[in-house]
Amino acid sequence: MDNKNNIATVIGTGYVGVTTSAILANAGYKVYALDISEDRLQALREGRSFFYEEGMNPLIKRAVDEKNLIPTSSYSDGVPESSFVFSCVGTPDNPDGSSNLKYIFNAAQETAKYIKPGTVYIQKSTVPVGTGRQVVETFKDKDVSYVSNPEFLREGTALFDTLFFDRIVVGGNDKKAVEKVLDLYREVEKVRENIAKLAGIKAKDIKGSYIATNLDSAELIKVTANAFLALKISFANSIAKLADKTEADVVEVMDAVGADARIGRAFLNAGRGYGGGCFPKDVSGLISSSLSHSVDMPIMVAASQINDEMASYIADKAEQTLGGLNGKKIAVLGLAFKAGTSDSRKSPGIKLANILHESGAEVSAHDPEANAEAKEMLSSQITLKDSAEEACKNAEAVFITTDWPQFKNLGFKALSEQMAGKLIVDCMNCLDISAVKDAGLVYIGVGRD
Ligand SMILES: NC(=O)c1ccc[n+]([C@@H]2O[C@H](COP(=O)([O-])OP(=O)(O)OC[C@H]3O[C@@H](n4cnc5c(N)ncnc54)[C@H](O)[C@@H]3O)[C@@H](O)[C@H]2O)c1
Repeated sequence: MDNKNNIATVIGTGYVGVTTSAILANAGYKVYALDISEDRLQALREGRSFFYEEGMNPLIKRAVDEKNLIPTSSYSDGVPESSFVFSCVGTPDNPDGSSNLKYIFNAAQETAKYIKPGTVYIQKSTVPVGTGRQVVETFKDKDVSYVSNPEFLREGTALFDTLFFDRIVVGGNDKKAVEKVLDLYREVEKVRENIAKLAGIKAKDIKGSYIATNLDSAELIKVTANAFLALKISFANSIAKLADKTEADVVEVMDAVGADARIGRAFLNAGRGYGGGCFPKDVSGLISSSLSHSVDMPIMVAASQINDEMASYIADKAEQTLGGLNGKKIAVLGLAFKAGTSDSRKSPGIKLANILHESGAEVSAHDPEANAEAKEMLSSQITLKDSAEEACKNAEAVFITTDWPQFKNLGFKALSEQMAGKLIVDCMNCLDISAVKDAGLVYIGVGRD
């Protein structure tokens, strides 16, 4: 275990850093998990993650107990003995939509004070293309290699995505360093079934690809992938608006369109639009970084505008069905930005709840994992409830804003008896329409009803 090549530092213990640390520490690495947030470090010391993610806590607990995962706030603890330093710090958006890179440069500058020659600095954070060529300057005269290794995990399936990956991309101008990092992942792949077992997640027999690129390509691969997924969602929403004016059902449409292998079904999902800590800022970051190279990106500007309008579009559709929102008692189910996580950053459910409240509705809200995190982003007059049943009691309309399994499988007959009204607004197009209608309820979705 104390093989000197098996020591790593992971900077930033957010969603990406915790997942990276937990997996490496259970794959035979000694990992220093470094953060400036005392709360996040304390959670790790207690053997748990600060966020909800299936399977994560058993991995953290074992690694912390066995001292393979060492939470620390000090760069001087782990960096001097690490062969690999992973940067997983946040890259939030600035008010103008561009990427705020201050954490990226700060982490590199602090690391440069302690890093030993021969170490590989691995940028996992999502950055605009060309960033690495600037960051690498921090390490000049240090004999340190710099690679971009963008992260593709999805919150809610973070461990699965990392262990049973579609592709691992490593880009850099030092080919030996790129191979070293690819080899590290090949070693992890050898023990991935054991790690999955410990986490209690189902293994899958898939062979992902290992892709070596140059530095700029790796950076651009990540933002391009997210931009394209965002584009598919906004495209589906554009078609949904047309479907709403006709008798077409957008889900039937996309099922058939997506059956064409050239197109693919994934992410052609109409609904309340994308949110979270990645898509909105990655799209605005791409638009901004393109402009800095004098390249217009109107396609992404349109995708972003369409996305921004979806919550109001759904509220308007419900308002027409209800004959007004003012004074109506409404339940909003789903405050995390997606199912399977407690992450509520830029959550469409929160946005919708606030819009309904601003329109005069009396709003109750519930999420199985995200109530605590959502609280400060919700208007103070919105009431948070501990269960879906409590939120829906006497409601005239129920909005399903996140497709948690427990919301998809609500007992609609019982729900219909608890509600004062009849309207179910399926903001994710995730419900079985006939189950809703058979319970005597009225269904509207986005591009279907
Ligand atoms: N969350 C995701 O699903 C996801 C998926 C793929 C890629 N990414 C990208 O990965 C990066 C990290 O995302 P995240 O969601 O984990 O972010 P996050 O905001 O949850 O975590 C970032 C962490 O970095 C810490 N930090 C900031 N500056 C630091 C410093 N100088 N030293 C030590 N710690 C520092 C913060 O305190 C925070 O805990 C972002 O660029 C994001 O776009 C995220």
